[in-house]
Parts: sequence; C-alpha cells; structure tokens
Amino acid sequence: MQSENTVDHPTTLITGGATGIGAATVRRLLAAGHRVAVTGRDQDRLDRFAAELGAGRDVLLPLAADATDYDAVRGAVEATVKEFGRLDHVIANAGFSTHDNLADGDPGQWREMLMVNVLGPALLVKAALPALQESGGRIVLVGSTAGIKNTPGNMYSVTKTALTSLAENAHVLVTGSGVGVTLIAPGRVDTPFWSSHPDRVVPQGPVLTPDHIADAIVWALRQPAGVDVNTVVVRPLGQVH
Ligand SMILES: NC(=O)c1ccc[n+]([C@@H]2O[C@H](COP(=O)([O-])OP(=O)(O)OC[C@H]3O[C@@H](n4cnc5c(N)ncnc54)[C@H](OP(=O)(O)O)[C@@H]3O)[C@@H](O)[C@H]2O)c1
Repeated sequence: MQSENTVDHPTTLITGGATGIGAATVRRLLAAGHRVAVTGRDQDRLDRFAAELGAGRDVLLPLAADATDYDAVRGAVEATVKEFGRLDHVIANAGFSTHDNLADGDPGQWREMLMVNVLGPALLVKAALPALQESGGRIVLVGSTAGIKNTPGNMYSVTKTALTSLAENAHVLVTGSGVGVTLIAPGRVDTPFWSSHPDRVVPQGPVLTPDHIADAIVWALRQPAGVDVNTVVVRPLGQVH
C-alpha cells in the first residue's frame, strides 16, 4: 500500500459530498492538497458548493451521480480518473435515515434507504476497485454507531449494520491486493441528516460537528504505508448507544 505522503496530490472521490459530513471532508481534503471529485444527485447544488469553496475544476470536480445507479457511479469513477489521471481513495458517504421503525414506519421509504445506504457503497467499491488496486489506495465507508448497536426496530440500523458487514467483507477481499478499507462509524452529528427527522432538528443531547468526522476520515486516509485502520467509532462524549 502506498503512503498518503508519497503522492503529491492524491485524488479522492466522495459521494454525497455537498452537505454535512461530506462537505466538511471535502474542505479538509482540499486543504490537505487532494484533488477531489464530489458527487450528489443535484448538479446545481454541487456547482454552488464548488463556487462557495472557490475551488476550480483543477482541484474539485462536481459530478451529479446517483449513488444507487451503477452506470452513474462507474461514470463518476471514470470521469475522476480521466480528469485527474489517478484515483487514490473513495469515500462512500451518501446516506440517509427514514428515522422510523418497523412498527410505525413507512415501508415505501425503506427500499430507497436500503439502496442508498447499502447498495450504493457496494457499487462504489466495485466501480473503483481496479483504479484503487493500481494506486494501492483506500476505501472509507461512512457507517454509523447504529450499525454497531441496535435500537428497537430501527431499519436505518439494519442498513448500517449491513454496511459494517460490507466493510469487513471488502477488507477480506482487497487487503491482499494492497487496498485499505476503513469503516468510520459516527455517533450523532449536527448535519442536514436530521432535517428528515419528525422533530426536524438533531435530538437533544451530546452531538458532534461534521468537522469531527471529517478529521477522522482524513486521519484514516493519511496513515503511513502498510497501515490499514479498519474500524473507527466516534461518538460525542456522553452518547451511550
Ligand atoms: N448526521 C448524523 O448524525 C450521522 C450519524 C451517523 C452516520 N451518519 C451518516 O453520515 C453520512 C453523511 O450524512 P450527513 O449526516 O452528512 O447528512 P447529509 O448532510 O444529509 O448528507 C447526505 C448526502 O448524501 C447525498 N445523497 C443522498 N442520497 C444520495 C444518492 N442516491 N446519490 C448520491 N448522493 C446522495 C445528499 O445529497 P443530495 O440530496 O444532493 O443527493 C447529501 O449531500 C450518511 O451515510 C449518514 O447515514 C450521519
């Protein structure tokens, strides 16, 4: 595996990167000298984000790509390699919660949640693997503490538990070919993730900022050659589950 420090301008592709944890990570990566490709479903939102950062296409490539559409994901990987000449890291960050449970939830939304939170990261790993094997790069999957501990009937927790499994599953598949895999499992973070919650705001109690998780992601990517950090759980102090 290469060291982050041996490549002048590593190239990183992150899904769902125009808001929240993804946006904070893009800022950190640009500051660390990365060239970054960032996806989301809304090209206008991505372009506004790039303009807000004042980052040109030489360092930031905003690409509309639905994380659940394999052709779109593969297209984003290809566009990144074409634009920047290499791919060192992918970060599967896009995800959402229906904030409901098996008893009172709306099954109509669960399919989409499963597709974005589970299928999406799997598609990204598949699409990026050849380029990552060439660069000796790293994969980061943004899971959740909900993927480590269950709460009653929580379907979001089911999707993130599947992602925890995907991280281990991918690690076993790719570690021998020099590719690293890290699961970052955040506790509560103050982001637009909570705008779909019935209360529309992050629940009362301890909470992290998106920068806290961005720092953990960048730390995992910047490990020395030969070091593969596999699971990082980051809770705000005082969060029990
Ligand atoms: N906030 C928390 O408390 C918390 C805790 C643990 C884990 N997480 C996880 O952290 C990750 C980031 O979430 P966040 O908190 O930063 O919330 P967020 O601000 O809502 O970010 C989610 C991003 O995903 C994108 N997205 C959603 N569906 C997509 C799709 N089909 N294709 C491509 N992009 C898509 C959204 O962009 P568009 O709508 O423009 O497509 C958005 O930018 C998620 O995986 C979430 O489950 C969050």
